[in-house]
Amino acid sequence: MAQDYKADDEVLGKAYDSKLMKRLLGYVKPYKKYMAFAIVLNIIVAAFGPLRAVLTKVAIDDNIKGKDYHGLLMVTLAMIGTLVFQAVMQYYLTYYTQLMGQRIIYDLRVKLFAHIEKLALKYFDKTPIGRIVTRVTNDIESLNEMFSSGIVNVFSDIFIVIWILGFMFFMDWKLSLVTLSVFPFLIYGTFLFRKKVRDSYRDVRFHLARLNSYMQEHVTGMGVVQIFNKENEELKRFSSINADYRKVNIDSIFYYAVFYPAVEFLSSIALALIIWYGGGEIIHNTMTIGVLFAFIQLIDQFFRPIRDLSDKYNIMQTAMASSERVFKLLDNNTFVKNPEVPVELKKVEGKIEFRNVWFAYNGDDYVLKDISFNITPGQTVAIVGATGAGKTSLINILTRFYDINKGKICLDGIDIKDMDKRELRKFISIVLQDVFLFSGTIKSNISLNSPEITDEKIIEAAKSVGAHKFISQLPKEYDEEVKEKGATLSVGQKQLLSFARALAYNPQILILDEATSSVDTETEILIQRAIEKLLVDRTAIVIAHRLSTIQNADQIIVMHKGEVREIGKHQELLAKRGIYYKLYQLQYKDQEVTRTA
Ligand code: UTP
Ligand code: MG
Repeated sequence: MAQDYKADDEVLGKAYDSKLMKRLLGYVKPYKKYMAFAIVLNIIVAAFGPLRAVLTKVAIDDNIKGKDYHGLLMVTLAMIGTLVFQAVMQYYLTYYTQLMGQRIIYDLRVKLFAHIEKLALKYFDKTPIGRIVTRVTNDIESLNEMFSSGIVNVFSDIFIVIWILGFMFFMDWKLSLVTLSVFPFLIYGTFLFRKKVRDSYRDVRFHLARLNSYMQEHVTGMGVVQIFNKENEELKRFSSINADYRKVNIDSIFYYAVFYPAVEFLSSIALALIIWYGGGEIIHNTMTIGVLFAFIQLIDQFFRPIRDLSDKYNIMQTAMASSERVFKLLDNNTFVKNPEVPVELKKVEGKIEFRNVWFAYNGDDYVLKDISFNITPGQTVAIVGATGAGKTSLINILTRFYDINKGKICLDGIDIKDMDKRELRKFISIVLQDVFLFSGTIKSNISLNSPEITDEKIIEAAKSVGAHKFISQLPKEYDEEVKEKGATLSVGQKQLLSFARALAYNPQILILDEATSSVDTETEILIQRAIEKLLVDRTAIVIAHRLSTIQNADQIIVMHKGEVREIGKHQELLAKRGIYYKLYQLQYKDQEVTRTA
């Protein structure tokens, strides 16, 4: 798993990729005014630091030497003026670039979420949740960093360096060349550092991902860890993963600890060269003292952007890698396709027909083979079979969570592939084996925030499935908060809630994947009654584990290893003494014994 993470999440490529950048800039388009404003402002603001150095030269060489008090005051005021102006501009610059960054990532996040919602379940089977969450959160966040500080600051740094070089050569080209003699060392050092940091940064990310996934898995499985008394062993493994993480972090700190002093050292050398060479020129009267002063200031300003460049490099590199992953997800088109011109459905009778249906989750590894059966409107059909026989798969393809490989599934005589999948799903409600509850209230979990489902309808549905009793005993009744996954409710209560949800939607076709988990007898009776209520007046397909449901069914479909082996009523199938008879002997007969006992 950790290896897997490295493959996809931790590959760092270039800090600049023109193809990716072009696509990213597409998202800047709506805000290009902000971008243009920021860049122009940056070019202007970048000049102010070096300009002050030149003003120092003027003050020393012209005003102080010429004993011009008025001129000196003017130059000083001009210096203060540039400072104030620069501060004000800096405010606008920060505000607007951040604003732009936030708006861009808002757009991108919405787009990404909308895309994820459209993906077929197949995609989610194969992708760990953590990875999808990382795309929408961390990856987008690192793009924000690039948009709001990266791109714009790279511009400003480049312009600061250009302005400084311009002013230097304008004042004294020879001294400029002497100053720049340290430049090759600086470039080489930065290059080395960049390479080292890149490698160590990749290691840091890799070990962080390992730490995260270990944490996530163990918090989720805490019950198992505690019941088997595995706390100490798990702690040991965690410590070792954590120690690896610490090591790579310390390595990366080492490179920074070397790089910053090295830049400091080179800047001091440059300063020494300026004083040595410039001082000599002053002694020989070929240079003024003001120029020396100006150069000393400029050299200080010159090294800051260079030092920061390595940080910017990291920002850009992370952003490029993130954008690549985000785009990969955006380009993923594992969709369940909709027809170009869908057949319109006003009303549905509920006639279902499977005609020689073949289906595989992967390649031609068929889990459903040549399935054919008919369900007439209003019928209740029970599907039975051993675990892994293909029961859940059968309903997965009826709702078009997955598309079939061969054959045809018709609803009221129309191929479901010719319908809009959203329309199709409007007529079908599903109650799954494991109930899924969202964080919210009891009410919102029944209505799923549909405006058509009023409070009255919610209460009516709850009453009808027998959930009202336990709900009205909750402190806040229907407004009682439901925690993520419904942790505060019992298994039976969650079942009843999911029945109420299905009933509130009042579907023509109901699909019920009965839970196998056993509940107490009282709840069992409640659930049985609820199911009976659910099944009236609609076509129903029940993956049945309860003998009562099976006995009452109009038709029982017996699945075995992906095939339909027997179809008929309870007594007929028993008389056949085939697969159903065996299943009955093994699984269902006991239920009769316990119930009558
Ligand atoms: P089903 O999930 O349809 O079995 O899987 P079932 O009859 O409902 O079983 P129970 O009673 O709930 O336990 C049928 C086959 O499809 C494979 C499974 O491995 C099984 O062999 N399968 C299921 C996949 O390959 N991918 C999936 O996403 C789900
Ligand atoms: Mg199943």
